Amino acid sequence: MRYFIITFGCQMNRNDSERIAAVLETMGYKKASKINRANLIIVNMCSVRQSAVDRVYSKIKNFAKLKNQNPKLKTLLTGCILRRDLKKFKEHFDYILSIKTLPYWGNLLEKEKFFYYPDPRDSKFNRKFNANYLKIEPKFANNFSAFVPISIGCNNFCTYCVVPYTRGPETSRPADQILVEVKKLAKRNFKEIWLLGQNVNSYSWNTKQETGKGIDFSQLLETINEIEGNFWIRFTSSHPKDFSDKLIKTIAECKKVTEYINLPVQSGDDEILKRMNRPYTVSKYKNLVKKIRNAISNVCLSTDVIVGFPGETKEQFENTAKLFKEIKFDMAYIAEYSPRPQTAAFEMKDDVSKEEKERRRRVLTEILKKTALENNKKYIGKTLNVLVENSKNGFLMGKTRTYKTIKFKSKENLIGEFVKVKIINATPWGLKGKLI
Ligand code: SF4
Ligand code: F3S
Repeated sequence: MRYFIITFGCQMNRNDSERIAAVLETMGYKKASKINRANLIIVNMCSVRQSAVDRVYSKIKNFAKLKNQNPKLKTLLTGCILRRDLKKFKEHFDYILSIKTLPYWGNLLEKEKFFYYPDPRDSKFNRKFNANYLKIEPKFANNFSAFVPISIGCNNFCTYCVVPYTRGPETSRPADQILVEVKKLAKRNFKEIWLLGQNVNSYSWNTKQETGKGIDFSQLLETINEIEGNFWIRFTSSHPKDFSDKLIKTIAECKKVTEYINLPVQSGDDEILKRMNRPYTVSKYKNLVKKIRNAISNVCLSTDVIVGFPGETKEQFENTAKLFKEIKFDMAYIAEYSPRPQTAAFEMKDDVSKEEKERRRRVLTEILKKTALENNKKYIGKTLNVLVENSKNGFLMGKTRTYKTIKFKSKENLIGEFVKVKIINATPWGLKGKLI
């Protein structure tokens, strides 16, 4: 029996796919090298944009042909699915299962067909399944970099976002479970640990119920920082509203925590931020960036931003462009607004044309290109620690502590190792160096 997993979406989904692989392998399945060799195809989907959902439909087209070739083939859908899409997908899959039911897949897959995808916000369902599936040890995609979820779900209800509807309410993972997992990874000599959550900054675990004393994200970072081993700690995603002074101090003081922060701004206009239900102003965001840059030397900042949110005027967009020029981000994930069912913004008029959204994206990309290049040039002549990730076109590719992509030549296969590289050139999207 062979399985093939198709993963869409964020790191959380990638990590879930690693847990799915672990469960299937304990059931006796082996990984198929090609989709047409599989007896079970799993699609781990994302609903963040309509284009992500459309990608699932394009995969489905192929299923009928594959089923003709192999009548025993089964297909399973999991991940982030909106209620509206659920009905349509039932026609195309043998199983649709909530990821939270993963510990029970051994039994569920014995059935001919099975659909169990309750509303992720249903409190009965959440009480029953909670975040227990995270106890399953993932089959990590490599042996040097691992994702470790610290919380799932989100309570923020930004008006454009599906996550509270697909992942349910924010649930922090027990701190002891996280620490056991990180200690194991450190022992196995992993070099990079990504702490994952939709909003890691609001992590909170009450270790001593009777005294009410809990552990917050800063304390979690401090504790992980003390675990023995030579590894970097990274985290994503952060919400500016929960980025406290205490957290900034912790990041600055913990040597294993790298100097890279993804701080989604989403818009550079106060009115739009309000309509996005992002409870901060542009001046508060700028102030936060100032505090971060003052406390953490050489920190690199990336952001997430949406262009063409309903009602965003040209002037309001110009405020975002102005903010980009001022902050000089190292990287930005620029999304054109896509209306998502179930969200509050779905009720607002999507009145910025496709062409105008594209234009706004291009404007921000041009600013980013300049600021990122300016920032990257500062590295020329410096020698940096690099974690080697893969190879491409005859170069080894790696990441610096500040999450800059770097390429360099080497005769040795150094993938998964820390090396020192001297920077000899810079482009907007990366650095070129010489192995020392
Ligand atoms: Fe979505 Fe992030 Fe907002 Fe949560 S904080 S609703 S995950 S954008
Ligand atoms: Fe997509 Fe779900 Fe992640 S909607 S971005 S896979 S949390």
